[in-house]
Amino acid sequence: MGNSPKVYRVAVIPGDGIGPSVVKATLEILDRAAQAHGFSLDFSFHEGGAGHFPKHGEPISEETIEACARAHAVIKGPVGLPQARRPDGTEGGLLGGTFRFIWNLYANVRPIRLWPGVGSPLKGVRPGEINYTIVRENTEGLYASRNSGVVREEAAVDSLLITRKGTKRVIEFAFHLARGRGEAPLDGKKRVTCVDKANVLRSMAFFREIFYQVAQDFPEIEADTLHADAAAQALVLEPKRFHVLVMENLLGDILSDLGGATVGGLGMCPSGNIGDKNALFEPLHGSAPDLADNNKANPLATILSGAMMLEWLGEKEAAQAIEKAVERALTQRLITVEPQGTVAPGTREAASIIRDLLE
Ligand code: IPM
Ligand code: MN
Repeated sequence: MGNSPKVYRVAVIPGDGIGPSVVKATLEILDRAAQAHGFSLDFSFHEGGAGHFPKHGEPISEETIEACARAHAVIKGPVGLPQARRPDGTEGGLLGGTFRFIWNLYANVRPIRLWPGVGSPLKGVRPGEINYTIVRENTEGLYASRNSGVVREEAAVDSLLITRKGTKRVIEFAFHLARGRGEAPLDGKKRVTCVDKANVLRSMAFFREIFYQVAQDFPEIEADTLHADAAAQALVLEPKRFHVLVMENLLGDILSDLGGATVGGLGMCPSGNIGDKNALFEPLHGSAPDLADNNKANPLATILSGAMMLEWLGEKEAAQAIEKAVERALTQRLITVEPQGTVAPGTREAASIIRDLLE
């Protein structure tokens, strides 16, 4: 018994549109990486999203949520299709905050990295010069108001919630992340940048105050602050300055898509929704129904999300092996990332190329 390999139970929600194909590509690679590193992955598959909605009136069932809770981690493909609508016009297939709120997945970790061989719309940046991580607060902020805003005939209100506990834990997470991994390409310094509108909103001044308090426990890491409007500029004009950024939920939602645009699009952007006990990993992009059946969708965001999952499970070497294989495939131009979220030679081919490059 002592020698039997470690088994991780992973709940998989393939999702809609291109979801099933990019998730399939990812699972093949994860399986191979697991084999090579002496552990195994036990996948269970669950329906969620726009495929589930018309039959049940909800995008996911209680049973699926419970099954996901019994797993060590969850991988989720993109969900949602334009035709799956609720009577009020909102999309019925979105899982939105479901797992984030019920499991308190307070850190939405979004690495933004320009990989070799991938074009950036920014002039003169080289691979490696954009390499930062946005830590988006994931359980409160303006999205605490998700589904509970108040609408009257002539006005509507959503409220922005910043709690001391919620802020402290996500800022501590950001500093620990900065301590553990990387530095700013500009000057090799470890730096956490707090992004807010502390000059205008009391709630955000409170967020920044807590940031400075937490920063005192990490004297070896530079504590930097920037207003969100200036941050939007700086992410375009001097991305090299950034290492880890931490911010309120809505700001993180917006600025992570901006960051994605600078590194070849959301097809290159993985993410992890991480709490103290559970975690769910998903690409930043949507379900792209137009690309669903032509074996063209870029699977890299989901593959890299899978690598993040392995790292979170404690299998750091296997995670790094996947990143190295992706890097090699892109450097040698075995895989080319194209605009509009596609890859050449194709989704399945990209998966086998990366799988064969795993060491
Ligand atoms: C994201 C998405 C979601 C969000 C949507 C799909 C509900 O934009 O994960 O960034 O608003 O958080
Ligand atoms: Mn978003």
